Amino acid sequence: MSDSRFGKIFGGMLAAMVVLTIVLIIIANVVGSTLKDEMASLKDQAKAKELIARIEPIGKVAFGKPAEVAQTQAAPAAKAETVSGEATYNAACAACHAQGVAGAPKFADGGAWNERVARGKDTLYANAVNGYQGKAGYMPPKGGNASLSDDQVKAAVDYMVDNIK
Ligand code: HEC
Repeated sequence: MSDSRFGKIFGGMLAAMVVLTIVLIIIANVVGSTLKDEMASLKDQAKAKELIARIEPIGKVAFGKPAEVAQTQAAPAAKAETVSGEATYNAACAACHAQGVAGAPKFADGGAWNERVARGKDTLYANAVNGYQGKAGYMPPKGGNASLSDDQVKAAVDYMVDNIK
């Protein structure tokens, strides 16, 4: 390779690198300023949250049945801790009982429930907690949700029984 050819190639590469550097600097600037804008808007959001928290009323008056109140207050942790029958029913029982799927006695349907209730609540509790195979179908233990406590299942039974029409 002659010296002049080498010079041309080297010069060309140098020029290309300079151009590349300039392009990168431009990109970095654009991305940087977008990020800055985003950070600013995040800060605004955090400030807004702080403000809302500061001007929120101290107490909330709750109307309605105790079960509803408990549910609205404990809504995010519904599965793990609440003993609210309604919340447990909605989470673990409604899948079958709301529409009477697979022989499940339908919610609020007196025709499906009265004879069962007549056998006594303890039987209902036991069958809901332990599960059972009846004439109409199979009721899985705790509705198939083993993480429920016995009390949660019983509260759900209470909720269902209280709503029979
Ligand atoms: C996979 C569907 C399914 C789910 C989920 C389910 N059940 Fe049932 N359940 C049934 C079926 C089917 C029966 C009727 C069984 C029969 O009598 O033949 C039944 C019956 C019952 C009975 C009547 C028991 C009796 O002695 O007559 C109670 C009480 C009950 N379920 C409570 C619950 C509760 C509480 C939950 C939620 C924790 C729940 N079920 C979830 C299917 C289900």
